[in-house]
Amino acid sequence: MPGYTTIEWEDGVVRMLDQRLLPEQVIYNRYRRTSEVAEAIRSMVIRGAPAIGAAAAYGLALAALSSRAENLDDLRRDLAQAAEVLRQSRPTAVNLSWALDRILQRMEKSQPITVEEARLFVIEEAQAIAVEDVETNRRMGLNGLPLVPDGARIIHHCNTGALATVDYGTALGVVRAAHEHGKKVHVYVDETRPRLQGARLTTWELQQLGVAHTLVVDGASGYLMSRVGIDLCLVGCDRMASNGDAANKIGTFNLALAAHAHGVPFYVVLPFSTIDFSIMSGDEIPIEERPEEEITRIGRTQLSPRSVSAFNPAFDVTPARYITAIITERGVAYPPFEESLAKLKEQ
Ligand code: MRU
Repeated sequence: MPGYTTIEWEDGVVRMLDQRLLPEQVIYNRYRRTSEVAEAIRSMVIRGAPAIGAAAAYGLALAALSSRAENLDDLRRDLAQAAEVLRQSRPTAVNLSWALDRILQRMEKSQPITVEEARLFVIEEAQAIAVEDVETNRRMGLNGLPLVPDGARIIHHCNTGALATVDYGTALGVVRAAHEHGKKVHVYVDETRPRLQGARLTTWELQQLGVAHTLVVDGASGYLMSRVGIDLCLVGCDRMASNGDAANKIGTFNLALAAHAHGVPFYVVLPFSTIDFSIMSGDEIPIEERPEEEITRIGRTQLSPRSVSAFNPAFDVTPARYITAIITERGVAYPPFEESLAKLKEQ
């Protein structure tokens, strides 16, 4: 079993594995302030939609803990401010605002009488979000299991493993479940330019799990499908609209197009908390744009001419028509997704 923890609440301190340094260094950072957690999310110490949700939840718990409010209204004000700071950190993964809203609603619903009581509700709910995430991921793994044939050759994009969640993983959780159930699978790991989550993180996780894998450049998918043979693609998601359009790491859409052209099943794996039922289509999903230097440099090494201008959207939106099925903890949804997702929502 892997011996690392993505994020943990340690008696009033948030402990995160610094994913920017992996795989060369395994270093844990400790945060006591909400603003530090927001910065850790922005700078990608922690990343991956469910992990960002858990981090935001703990960031709000830190705000509850450090607030000097003497009455409930002042605490509400402090929490609202902290939630705003956290909301600004990364815009695309809806799990972030989902976690914050869930905690604030739980606090109100529990009708606290004292500030102390309210603080406790916030911390409890943040911990519940983290605990539930692991169970949710395991269920997605099991739900996806029948879709992975023994001997499957899989393309996976970005990182969706334990590192992208509190533990176990989403799309990589399906791979993990298949491996744990004795299926022989081989994962072609997209390196995932420009932050290289595939090359740095997914390979590191698969090595520790003992799952066979090969690192490829993002542009290799068409070649792999036409000349090597690929049985399915598994990707995660940062925000899905109610029609099934899926925002995920830049390059996911290209992979879906290649899969469509070759008749390869394309599966999106996500917890229900990643579905934004308030929006009808992917056009409404905010897409984060990150600094140009993520493309023009690798670490301190300048790659392109210094004066070049670069465009760095961190995510793209795969239209629902290119998605074969959506694997969630509540079950597997098939097209038309408006209907199948709405049905799963009722459960
Ligand atoms: O920019 P990142 O590394 O946070 O992007 C992560 C992804 O795109 C994942 O595929 C997504 O969060 C789903 S993973 C559980």
